[in-house]
Amino acid sequence: MRKVVHHSVDKDGFRAQPKGFATKAIHVGQDPEQWSCMAVVPPILMSSTYKQHAPDEHTGFKYSRLRNPTRDVLERCLASLDNAKFGLTFSTGLGAVTALITMLKSGDHIVAERDLYGGSCTAFTKIASKMNISVDFVDFTDLGKVEEIVKPNTKLFWVESPTNPLLKVVDIEAVCKIAHKLPEVVVVVDNTFLSPYFQRPLELGADIVMYSLSKYMNGHSDVIMGAAIMNDETLYQKLQFLQNATGIVPSPFDCYLLNRGLKTLALRMERHRTNALAVAKFLEGHPKVDRVLHPGLPSHPQHALSKKQTYGHSGMVAVFLKGGLDEASVFLQSLRVFTLAESLGGVESLAGSPSRMTFGSFAPEERAAMGIVDGLIRLSVGVEDIDDLLEDLQQALESV
Ligand SMILES: *Cc1c(COP(=O)(O)O)cnc(C)c1O
Ligand SMILES: *[C@@H]1O[C@H](CO)[C@@H](O)[C@H](O)[C@H]1NC(C)=O
Ligand SMILES: *[C@@H]1O[C@H](CO)[C@@H](O)[C@H](O)[C@H]1NC(C)=O
Repeated sequence: MRKVVHHSVDKDGFRAQPKGFATKAIHVGQDPEQWSCMAVVPPILMSSTYKQHAPDEHTGFKYSRLRNPTRDVLERCLASLDNAKFGLTFSTGLGAVTALITMLKSGDHIVAERDLYGGSCTAFTKIASKMNISVDFVDFTDLGKVEEIVKPNTKLFWVESPTNPLLKVVDIEAVCKIAHKLPEVVVVVDNTFLSPYFQRPLELGADIVMYSLSKYMNGHSDVIMGAAIMNDETLYQKLQFLQNATGIVPSPFDCYLLNRGLKTLALRMERHRTNALAVAKFLEGHPKVDRVLHPGLPSHPQHALSKKQTYGHSGMVAVFLKGGLDEASVFLQSLRVFTLAESLGGVESLAGSPSRMTFGSFAPEERAAMGIVDGLIRLSVGVEDIDDLLEDLQQALESV
């Protein structure tokens, strides 16, 4: 029988955040007593190799591709944030995607979200395909279609929620149930857009949570890194083998920066949440705006689902301006506090045109089918003073 878990809700109707997240982000893996010098901040250990007492008699550290103390600290802390047993880091988010693809073998089949992050899409269609691994893309909000697309050789479900850039919210629990009707399907959820502060997919039945740590997790737009988080020991051993065997590992210096970024994750995410909701509400009422997508707005198609499965929403907002490319260009070039740039999840507010930037390489018909129109603007709302952000948006809309 299925256990019914009742969650308490917060003032906005989302799942209430249990106590302890910020404390874990600051302390797990960082006990000063693990170092002989009792350093409160975990040291950056750049050594590639480690002295052995006798041949193969070592401290557990042999060579830094396999294991490194600074990386260990980060991986333990990351695992704790998803209430998971194991965490592994990779040199980039796409490095984590590559490692996960190499878990598969010739003849296997992937079911992936249709509105997938562009780089993950390329990895499936241009790299996995060369390994005789096939992929079908599906709209995971259409559960009937998901049931239809599963094959006997399906081994991987690749879910993103909310999606990029249209912030479609997928019922992760329902998708996991479909996937797990087959014995060997691994469900991966790319949780980059929300971070474990707002969504913990393992609690919803997923097998692996994947991150581009380059975004909210680091939060300061100065590291490129990825991670895979899981509870299953067999999956962990497979991926740990691949981390070492493929060599897709981050540098100790970047691990240090990432670890430092995590310490303020809870603080930053709270501010992203309130700033982005204020921006979304302001834009939704503006005469030059056609439509705003933000899962915290009652107008969002999956508003109820979003409240049911997440602890809130991050700084990501999608805005459809009235008009097309000209209006979008004038708007983006008029912004003074928001910066026109790729990426997301940093303390600074960014804005971009998905049709010209992240989806620029797609054919116009493909973009149209995906709903990526020229008037669409993607905002990554940062943690600046909200009045400055609203004023900036107001003046940029006035110049359109
Ligand atoms: C950025 C991003 C990635 C890729 O991560 P990198 O660190 O840039 O390699 C994957 N998924 C999502 C949702 C992202 O935003
Ligand atoms: C390639 O994959 C298909 C299943 O999609 C399988 O039938 C075939 O045997 C595979 N080919 C090789 C060479 O493994
Ligand atoms: C890590 O990779 C090296 C190859 O450079 C290999 O010798 C070693 O056995 C690997 N370790 C593990 C635990 O997989």
